[in-house]
Amino acid sequence: MYPDKRDGTIRAVEEQKRNLMLVSRDLKVIATNYGPGRRPMGVQCMGRSCHEILYCKNSPCHPCLAQEVLKTGKPAVREKPDGDGSSAWEACHYAYPLYSGKEITFLVLLDYDVSSFEAMEENLKRSNAFLINLIHSAVDGVIAADIRGRIVIFNSAASEICGFSEEEALSGMNIRKVYPRGVAEKIMKKMRGDGWGGKGKVKNLKVDGMNRDGSRVPIALDAAIVCDEGKEVATIGFFRDMRETLRMEEELKGTQVQLLQAEKMASLGKLAAGVAHQINNPLGGILLFARLLLEEYDLPKEARDDVKRILRDAARCRDTVGELLAFARQTRSEMAPFDINQAITRTLFLLESQTLFHNIEIRSQLDLDLPQVMADIQQMNHLFMNIILNAADAMDNEGVLTVATGTVRPGRVFAEISDTGSGIPEPLLKKIFDPFFTTKEAGEGTGLGLSLAYGIIESHGGTIAARNNPEKGATFRVEIPANPQTSEADHG
Ligand SMILES: Nc1ncnc2c1ncn2[C@@H]1O[C@H](COP(=O)(O)OP(=O)(O)OP(=O)(O)O)[C@@H](O)[C@H]1O
Ligand SMILES: [Mg+2]
Repeated sequence: MYPDKRDGTIRAVEEQKRNLMLVSRDLKVIATNYGPGRRPMGVQCMGRSCHEILYCKNSPCHPCLAQEVLKTGKPAVREKPDGDGSSAWEACHYAYPLYSGKEITFLVLLDYDVSSFEAMEENLKRSNAFLINLIHSAVDGVIAADIRGRIVIFNSAASEICGFSEEEALSGMNIRKVYPRGVAEKIMKKMRGDGWGGKGKVKNLKVDGMNRDGSRVPIALDAAIVCDEGKEVATIGFFRDMRETLRMEEELKGTQVQLLQAEKMASLGKLAAGVAHQINNPLGGILLFARLLLEEYDLPKEARDDVKRILRDAARCRDTVGELLAFARQTRSEMAPFDINQAITRTLFLLESQTLFHNIEIRSQLDLDLPQVMADIQQMNHLFMNIILNAADAMDNEGVLTVATGTVRPGRVFAEISDTGSGIPEPLLKKIFDPFFTTKEAGEGTGLGLSLAYGIIESHGGTIAARNNPEKGATFRVEIPANPQTSEADHG
């Protein structure tokens, strides 16, 4: 059973620089290079027990490192020498099995001198610290969890996305908590399949993460199952916060819509200008001659009433043509420093006395420090008149109209007009700025009010948008660049 003393194994053991012992399963020494008194022992130790040689004991140590290796089949280490310190090896012990097929035939016992063990520990600590630093400096959120889902790695970016502190996450929190209900299980299922970036992985998966405050955070996820000896032991995920990317995409979409709208307006503007010019002259003739009829002839009452009707209708046509021309920007605009608060107040003052507004409560939230804007006063009045009249129509002349102004950021001001009316059906939100789009009865609306408003705002370098209020009604928001001179004075 024991190898021959001239066996190569024994010679190899004896030539080792580190203290080393080869023992059988029953803990008998087969070969060693050192023994008590630090003298080479070689063949003198053969057949004696390791505890006898190392600790001068008659029975195995408690616990016995060699027996641990026999039990687990894996290497084992003990930091401090066993017993009362009388060990020949003033160092740490390390033992590992030698297999013949599946069976352990011999064990190797080694000593480490403490200083090299400490140096190894120090190195390990340093590389661990480096690794942790690396994970924490990552731009993406990094979260790893053990097989039961308990979080074991959680970096600062993950903390920003999920709203949990690293301490909270590492105190036994489950990975499921960083996803909406059921999502973690779905990701796990995808990782176990191979349709999402290879078996055991998902790549660039768009899912929602869950913030601690209950809000959802869109993320792009790269994740993998970590295996050890073929068994799943952990999962690791890299989370990319998509909020900013999605916001930019949304902004881009908005710009595209505005561009499309601007293009539509431009072509319609050309058409409208042409038609308006053609109509303007004959219309001038109708108005002139109808007035002459009234002034120069003594007409019977019925005839006078008819001519007056002609005058009224022709005047309406002239107004519409006027609007069309304004829309096509054929009228000259005169830009001057202008106070939006004043335009809104003046429009409300004009409208308040009308029966239309008798049952409408007006709430004003005007920012008194609002910087001025450079604008055409006529056009601005017209714009707010259109929006406010629309609001009154939508409320069927009863409800609350709220006007608010403020600064979006230095250099840009906003005005919001909200009503508690019918609101705008979602599919129509895209259409309301189209020329001639109206939901009003024939004769009640031309559908030009908002397209005109759009044209005005565009020529002032601003934006106009409509949205439905969460409770009731709609809000129109206008944003315009502030007059650089006043805004500088305000913020300088
Ligand atoms: N505050 C609002 N609430 C609900 N719907 C609105 C509101 N403002 C506008 N709308 C919708 O937008 C459509 C277009 O408005 P726009 O001002 O362009 O034309 P109009 O009011 O119908 O006619 P007019 O040319 O007389 O103004 C309206 O018909 C209405 O359906
Ligand atoms: Mg209108």
